[in-house]
Amino acid sequence: MLFKVCTAVALVAASAMVKASPTPAPISDLEALTGRATPLAQVITKCTVPNNVALTFDDGPEEYIYNISRQLIAAGGKGTFFWNGNNYGCIYDEINVKRVKYAYAQGHMVASHTWDHKDLTTLTFDEIHDEFYRVELALERLLGVKPAFLRPPYGNYNNLVRQVAYERGQKLVTWDFDSGDSTGSTPAQSDAAYDALIKKHPSTILALNHEVYEKTAHIVVPHAIAALKKAGYELVTVAECIGLKPYQSVTSPQTGSWTC
Ligand SMILES: *[C@@H]1O[C@H](CO)[C@@H](O)[C@H](O)[C@H]1NC(C)=O
Ligand SMILES: [Zn+2]
Repeated sequence: MLFKVCTAVALVAASAMVKASPTPAPISDLEALTGRATPLAQVITKCTVPNNVALTFDDGPEEYIYNISRQLIAAGGKGTFFWNGNNYGCIYDEINVKRVKYAYAQGHMVASHTWDHKDLTTLTFDEIHDEFYRVELALERLLGVKPAFLRPPYGNYNNLVRQVAYERGQKLVTWDFDSGDSTGSTPAQSDAAYDALIKKHPSTILALNHEVYEKTAHIVVPHAIAALKKAGYELVTVAECIGLKPYQSVTSPQTGSWTC
């Protein structure tokens, strides 16, 4: 596949194909180029399996993953981690490799949050492919898995992003509840938001949290897990809560060391 290869040559070829434009190519241009209708990836906005809650954590790998994982496991649950390749730190740094391997070994679902957390709707076709590709490569190297889901940074996507996701075998995942931890909510406000939601007792919840905040890990997550368990919900991964497989393929991790 042409855009799978992240080399200067492939990138040049790709940008030549979709024409040298600073703005993302409109979908109609791509259809004109390929001469076929371009399918769009599915966007998962909620869980479908009744009584399921998927707690998701973005922007890691970070140090609080150990604490969050222990809490989930102690509650008989699993979580989903949407990781960047190079945002708070480089995923290939030894400290992050340990976090990645730990979370995967505990049975949580791991997925992509793009390489460096750009707003994908500002990128060109080949730049979007690259944002997907580098995280796929990292997870294949470190864990032997090819992710099947990607959460677009800021929840932002357009048809070009959906087309790339489709071509790379990934579904986009947003959320139907935001704890507010990355948008200025205090832990007390996040706790209250969880309480108000649980009081309404929706059939399913797909919740956005961030792995990178100490207060999320130490205050909000314990509160949310206790309240959700008390309300009788099951804490599962995103793949489980929609009845799909978490990965496109699973093989052995590679040995070696890499840099961002
Ligand atoms: C998570 O960290 C907090 C603060 O250090 C600690 O009180 C709590 O026991 C930890 N939870 C688990 C399950 O390790
Ligand atoms: Zn993010």
